[in-house]
Amino acid sequence: MTCVLGIETSCDETGVAIVDEAWKIRAGRVASQVEVHAEFGGVVPEIASRKHLECISQLAAKVIADARVSVDAVAATNGPGLMGSLLVGVNFAKALAYTWNVPFVPVHHIEGHIFSVFLDTDSPPAFPFLALVVSGGHTCLLACDRPHHYVTLGATRDDAVGESFDKVARLLGLSYPGGPSIQHTAENGNPKAISFPRGLVHSESLEFSYSGLKTAVLYELRKGGCAVEDVAASFQAAAIDVLLVKTKRAIAETGAQRLVLAGGVAANRLLRQRLDAELSIPVFMPSLKLCVDNGAMIAAAAVSRLEHGLLGDWTTTPSPSLPLMA
Ligand code: KG4
Ligand code: ZN
Repeated sequence: MTCVLGIETSCDETGVAIVDEAWKIRAGRVASQVEVHAEFGGVVPEIASRKHLECISQLAAKVIADARVSVDAVAATNGPGLMGSLLVGVNFAKALAYTWNVPFVPVHHIEGHIFSVFLDTDSPPAFPFLALVVSGGHTCLLACDRPHHYVTLGATRDDAVGESFDKVARLLGLSYPGGPSIQHTAENGNPKAISFPRGLVHSESLEFSYSGLKTAVLYELRKGGCAVEDVAASFQAAAIDVLLVKTKRAIAETGAQRLVLAGGVAANRLLRQRLDAELSIPVFMPSLKLCVDNGAMIAAAAVSRLEHGLLGDWTTTPSPSLPLMA
């Protein structure tokens, strides 16, 4: 059975995993740098690349030992992301592939997130589908009519939704990353306490805007008198509301029969519950541990790329702003 080793180093998680052609994760590990960056309230690029370099070799050795299979291809995220961090993963992957005399498969980070829903499940989504990709770096709705073919229906004009969770958490004095800490704090708050703006919600377009929401939170905090729990719950309600409105609009416009939700923010409980409850089409979501960056999603995308004869070549270099359809 074909097995692919996937490497993800685009931001602050070093992820390595081996996935087989039936989308089963044979072994996988993630080394998180969250604690290192937490004191800065966000990712420090120079520290991130150094940390990847420090742990990637041992992490890969452990995954290879855990899986005990021979590897038929090595994949790595080649963008978008932090240049120094991407370079570590891509060069490590190329070196392994060259040594083992197997193909090197570069994978776009968003494509990796999308393929996380194919992992460890008996019922992966069929094509075509609509994808809502929500993370610290991306907020977009994509039409995926066939494997590795994407049309962007709408993306954010400014901040990504995960980025707004991180920035608002910082304003509220909550820990990094902001998504989990806001979700946790919001559980004890009133989501209707403050009516925060829903960016571009009345516009016909499928674009998003999250910078106004973050600024509205800042002004509310300057006014004072609100409990942190209520601000967190009201912010989360506004941020998630927009995702629901735009996704419903995209479904109505495209007639999509199924939705794939992916990216770090896909771990958000309110988002998962609302999509499940309010959409009339099936929603495919990754398990919680596969929402945030990991190596298995990159290997999963590469399994499909291999199947479709979409190999990379040795001259591929990472790009911080790689377009999805290069
Ligand atoms: O996909 P990911 O690991 O990295 C990027 O590709 O950016 O996503 C990380 C983002 C962070 O912004 C984090 O705050 C957010 O995902 N996140 C969440 C939750 N868990 C992680 N946002 C909202 N609710 C969560 N439960
Ligand atoms: Zn990601």
